[in-house]
Amino acid sequence: MDFKQNINKNKLPKHIAIIMDGNGRWARQRGEERIFGHENGVRAVRETVEAAGELGVSYLTFYAFSTENWCRPQKEIDTLMELLVKAIHNETPELIEKGVRLATIGDVESLPEKCRKELADAIEKTSHNTKLTVTVALSYSSHWEILNAVKDIAQQVKEGKINPEDIDKKMFQSFLQTQGMPDPDLLIRTSGELRISNFLLWQIAYSELYFTPVLWPDFGKKHFYQAILDYQRRERRFGKT
Ligand code: IPE
Ligand code: IPE
Ligand code: MG
Repeated sequence: MDFKQNINKNKLPKHIAIIMDGNGRWARQRGEERIFGHENGVRAVRETVEAAGELGVSYLTFYAFSTENWCRPQKEIDTLMELLVKAIHNETPELIEKGVRLATIGDVESLPEKCRKELADAIEKTSHNTKLTVTVALSYSSHWEILNAVKDIAQQVKEGKINPEDIDKKMFQSFLQTQGMPDPDLLIRTSGELRISNFLLWQIAYSELYFTPVLWPDFGKKHFYQAILDYQRRERRFGKT
């Protein structure tokens, strides 16, 4: 079956968010260190970005490193950060060529200096691109994001810049990391885990959720198309009848 052919281009999700999970298990199944799985996960990211670009999806957001992931063994964290620097460095020319704008959400300040530099460079170089926005969530968690928003709003109230009565949904969203981005229409999680793990909790209020047992390093265009086809078969009611 040609999955791509069956996708309705007029009903594409505008924003797809992805919880890339299962790298460690993929490596273990092969008798390798967990990091081997992370290395092979880069290919899946590249393929997904390519597929999204070809279809005309506007926003793609990847959960790459959570606030809680800082509790992993230091060696795994270090290698993940090195991998990130390498991947961003290698992929930037391709992003530029394909009209992809790179963005990040999360506590980027907490990343090693080398990562921040590489990211800032890639973000700058791709800042004029408009075809597809690829956002990487790094040192991100919804609890961190929402608490920060609350603190920032409280500070502005204290300074008399905001009237508490004026705090509404629109204003609150403007204090989130994702400000200016539409909410995800579709959230994909790989590896068979049925949870959200602190990802975009505010933003996925009405997102369609798609879980697949495929481990992230095995994820490819075909799986991405399958998720979109599944999404297109659903009826989104947003609380209405
Ligand atoms: C996802 O794969 C990548 C990150 C969270 C950085 P995992 O490393 O969580 O792999 P599993 O879930 O242990 O298999
Ligand atoms: C979620 O995966 C975080 C990322 C994909 C970056 P985890 O592997 O960290 O989540 P849990 O521990 O299974 O909930
Ligand atoms: Mg995991």
